[in-house]
Amino acid sequence: MKKAEVINLVTEYKINPIGIDVLKPRLGWQLNSGEQNVMQTAYEIRVANSKKDLESGKNLIWSSQKVESDQSVNVVYGGPALTSMQRVYWQVRIWDNKNRSTSWSSPALWEMGILDRSLWTASYIAMDDITTEKKSHPSQYFRTEFKTKKAIKSAKVQVTSLGVYELYLNGEKVGNDLFTPGYTTYNKRLQYQTYDVTEMLQGNNAIGAIVGDGWYRGNIGWKGDYAFYGKQLALLVQLNINYTDGTNETIVSNGEWKASYGPILESDMYNGEKYDARLEMDGWAQSGFDDNKWTKVQILDHSKEILVAPQGPPVKAIDEIKPKKLITTPKGEIVLDLGQNIVGWARMRVTGNKGDRVILKFAEVLDKDGNFYTKNLRAAEATDMYTLKGDGEEIFEPHFTSHGFRYIQVIDYPGTLSLDDITGIVIHSDIAPTGSFTTSDPMINQLQSNIQWGQKDNFLDIPTDCPQRDERAGWTGDAQVFSMTAAYNFDVAAFYTKWLKDLALDQHENGSVTNVVPDILTGGEGVSAQGGATGWADAAVIIPWTVYQSYGDKRILEEQYESMKAWVDFIAVKSGKDYLWNDPKHWHWGDWLAYNADKPDYNGSVTEKDLIATAYAYYSTTLLAKIAAIIGKTEDVGKYKEQAVNIKKAFIQEYITPNGRLVSHTQTAYAMAISFDLIPEGLIEKSAAYFAADIEKFGHLTTGFLGTPLLCTTLSKIGRDDLAFMLLNRKEFPSWLYPITMGATTIWERWDTQKPDGTIIEGMNSFNHYSYGAIGEWLYTHVGGLRIDPENPGYKHIIFDPHPGGGLTSADAEFLSLYGKIKSAWEVKDGKFHYEVVIPANTTASVTLPEATPDSIHLNNSKLKSDLLKTLRQTDEGVQLELGSGTYQFSYPSEKLKL
Ligand code: BGC
Repeated sequence: MKKAEVINLVTEYKINPIGIDVLKPRLGWQLNSGEQNVMQTAYEIRVANSKKDLESGKNLIWSSQKVESDQSVNVVYGGPALTSMQRVYWQVRIWDNKNRSTSWSSPALWEMGILDRSLWTASYIAMDDITTEKKSHPSQYFRTEFKTKKAIKSAKVQVTSLGVYELYLNGEKVGNDLFTPGYTTYNKRLQYQTYDVTEMLQGNNAIGAIVGDGWYRGNIGWKGDYAFYGKQLALLVQLNINYTDGTNETIVSNGEWKASYGPILESDMYNGEKYDARLEMDGWAQSGFDDNKWTKVQILDHSKEILVAPQGPPVKAIDEIKPKKLITTPKGEIVLDLGQNIVGWARMRVTGNKGDRVILKFAEVLDKDGNFYTKNLRAAEATDMYTLKGDGEEIFEPHFTSHGFRYIQVIDYPGTLSLDDITGIVIHSDIAPTGSFTTSDPMINQLQSNIQWGQKDNFLDIPTDCPQRDERAGWTGDAQVFSMTAAYNFDVAAFYTKWLKDLALDQHENGSVTNVVPDILTGGEGVSAQGGATGWADAAVIIPWTVYQSYGDKRILEEQYESMKAWVDFIAVKSGKDYLWNDPKHWHWGDWLAYNADKPDYNGSVTEKDLIATAYAYYSTTLLAKIAAIIGKTEDVGKYKEQAVNIKKAFIQEYITPNGRLVSHTQTAYAMAISFDLIPEGLIEKSAAYFAADIEKFGHLTTGFLGTPLLCTTLSKIGRDDLAFMLLNRKEFPSWLYPITMGATTIWERWDTQKPDGTIIEGMNSFNHYSYGAIGEWLYTHVGGLRIDPENPGYKHIIFDPHPGGGLTSADAEFLSLYGKIKSAWEVKDGKFHYEVVIPANTTASVTLPEATPDSIHLNNSKLKSDLLKTLRQTDEGVQLELGSGTYQFSYPSEKLKL
């Protein structure tokens, strides 16, 4: 048997992060053990300034000493305060429940960023280029040179910009992050990045940077906003060099730097990039370049108080896709098909004459006649243009734009275009994949693929509603409904931590939460400018809760607490004495884009907005009361519990008949009331029957953004897996599989984004909105049976409870938790139900074996042994067992299962 070891050390969810500004970082590790029933019983962490000190155990800056605890994630650093740019090394060893200890883990490290603001000695530098009209300006190039005369021990650069930047050192790009400094609510929080550039320095050095408009000064939102955060771009760079002789030097952006325009004539998130290779300036980011014609920069007075280290993962180019087909459309357009709707751009290889100009256009679909279709991009031009310099093979990739697309139209390509000349570059926030879900049904596997692509495509530093049209905004409702599914598919802890900070900062004084974050709408016109929409603004409470549930992260609850509380208090004020949030003047999106058939006898999918608002008021207030208890805000617990009780009473009185019927007799209303626990005990069966009857009557779903995520989980809750599977398996509109019959590779915004005859609804209509992908949560938790225990979250205690059905013969849900890999995989074969579960070390689990009887169960081909039998409980669903870590293969006859 392999000896247990401690592996995968993380600090603030990251591997060896540098430049962080979390003062008391949280540490985590995994226990790798091949044995069953392994739990950590104690740990010891040590931290030192150097690897040598760490490993010798001398001059430690902190030792936790041996702590009797099974905690192995989110363990707070408890040593002395760290200083700016301090790098520390750490390691950990643990003891387990079999009285053994591991050896010390391999060392990991973290490094602080700039904590003391007075250390920011660099100045923001800018060109004399102030936007006065709504027109893209060329990207700006900055440079300086410097010499290093001594041997270098280490060098770090801190950099940010107003706009988006690329940094170069001696001609090489620094790091491979995209769209840095990232998208935050720029007037309140501006991220800077730290890069280790020790290896990039030489004697004569040059620093160069390109700054483009990005979200800061480019087009943003669908109302034609331009230069929303500022009219002038700027750059801030600070390079700290430590020499081996113990001295330091800091190179900073200042009035000595030079600036120029270059080949990027226009670069805009929505419209694309125009690049003229004839204007390239060879060697501009290397020393010795003649910058005589470059202008002097200005110093821009801009706050350094708002500078923060990034908490989320950076955006990166993650994947490449080769086009599958080259098509000439009926209109004669030359179009390449990637076979997958992605976000990013096309890398082009081209040879031609100086001045030849190639245009690349991007689209999600072809129209019903097979022509290139861009109407649904609305005002986003999504067009890249490349002018050749004409010296052999040239490669073009844009810098500061991205497109949402599957098809690329190539116009005026010199010579003959082949599939090899274009590559689709997939970009997204570098969230690590954590979940996989597969079944015996290829269409459901395609649905899962579409959900995951929808997530990748819309996790571009913020959670966007869609990645292609003139919108791409951080819509809170979309993010809220999808957050749990998102947390199964990818590691989103750090991603949401970052975004929620902006949510709180943009929150209004009265507690109202904005519709989009970063908030680019407040102060504008129309209903979208009003915040505080039910189900949308509740992201303030629900997403931190999701992060807590998925990662056991209490700090996010603490840090977001004031924001949540302000939101729930806002609702209370709005609802007033009768606890009903029914103010007709207050705008809600309601069950946005619910199915609305044109059947004459169809009595509607429209759920009254005040019912939804009051239901969500109850849900968020209930969560807040729980959260207050978890983080020790005892004084608030009673208050919010009582408030919740009052909302529930009001809800029952106003919206539920004594017979359990809801006044909005819709699937959404029932799903919401049942799953939020708003139905009185005695009426649950009746309400459930109404709910089921409505689904049976129509034979399909009728729900929108808020109802859909709750639909199948609620059906499972009332024991109607059969209906949930019916909805899942349905292939006609409206359903999840209908888009797949139409060739969808991502989740659509509407149930009928494209009609069966190929017609595409005009106007607001995206082929890449993740909201309806929220069905993913039910796929993992019920079909796969891999679930969080809300009482012991973060997968410290796992609930395995598969719901086989719907004609599936197998399902396999896997999840990479903070403790390690979890697996829940079942298969029906040869008249038997085979079920494999994998439980990582330092966790425990409850397993339900559906429709099993104690004596029929085999574990690893033998009858259950007494230690397990002791934990066995016969339930209505089957047999329940309590398990420790390890891999278990169960099997038993399957004839009782309702497949
Ligand atoms: C967006 C959404 C959003 C909605 C508000 C749309 O324009 O694309 O997904 O939630 O507006 O209802």
